Parts: sequence; C-alpha cells; structure tokens
Amino acid sequence: MDYQKALTKIERIFSKSERIVEDAVDFLYNNFKKYSWIGIYIVKNDYLVLGPWRGKQATEHTNIPIGKGICGSAAKSGKVEIIPDVNADSRYLSCFVSTKSEIVIPIKKNQKIVGEIDIDSDKTNAFTEEDAKFLEKVADMLSEHI
Ligand code: SME
Repeated sequence: MDYQKALTKIERIFSKSERIVEDAVDFLYNNFKKYSWIGIYIVKNDYLVLGPWRGKQATEHTNIPIGKGICGSAAKSGKVEIIPDVNADSRYLSCFVSTKSEIVIPIKKNQKIVGEIDIDSDKTNAFTEEDAKFLEKVADMLSEHI
C-alpha cells in the first residue's frame, strides 16, 4: 500500500475508533509486510513503557530507561532513528534474533516527547526517509491519544 493511501485510511480509522492506538498498530502491522514487529512505548517518568504491540513474539524490553538503546536514544534526542543494520549499532538492545533493521519515531505533544513508535524489520536496511516521513505523520496523529 502506498503511504498517502495509508494515511487516508488511518485518518478514517481514527475518526471512528475508540481504540485508536491499538487500531493504528494493527493497521501498520497488517499492511506493511516489512514491518515485522511494531510497538508503541509511552514515556512514564524516566522510562519508556511498552503499550500496544504486534508481532510474532513479545519483547523482554518492556521498560527501557530514557537514554538506553535505540529507543531510549530517540526519546532523549527527540530525533527519528533509522538503523540499517542493528548489529552494527552498539546501542542496540536485542529483542529478536530475526531483527536486522529498526526505525524509531518519537511522538511529541506540545514539543514534549510523550512516547514513540518502534518498528523492527527482518530485512537489512528496510527503512527509508519515506518511511520516516509517513510514520512521523502517524506519530502526530497518535500524539493526542497517548
Ligand atoms: N531494539 C530496541 C529495543 C526494543 S525492541 O526492538 C522491541 C532498542 O535498541 O532500544
């Protein structure tokens, strides 16, 4: 599915759903096959706490200190992290042996980081600037619902 079409569909889901964050995670997981695991982390005090997620397996990293791992780095800097090869990044906290690349998109509300979208792929170098732009729009849509 192309990203513009996906945004239109997600907007439609959001206008009807009472489980917006869960439905958005479902939508991304079901429509983009290269997204092998998707989770929403919520900022609580100095930690990222795992919220809704979809994937074949649960992660052991359900509470990540801000500043730790790829997720914690993105939460600290407020910047998108695109990691083409997770095994080449010393910050990486491993969840699944199958994961090869990762993207993390901070979710901001009034310039404050309230959470993030974390996506793993089983393909090396799966994520492009196009994914980042698309997922930043999704993050903006989710920010009101975190
Ligand atoms: N790999 C992440 C941890 C979360 S799992 O991918 C679900 C990191 O390095 O922060």
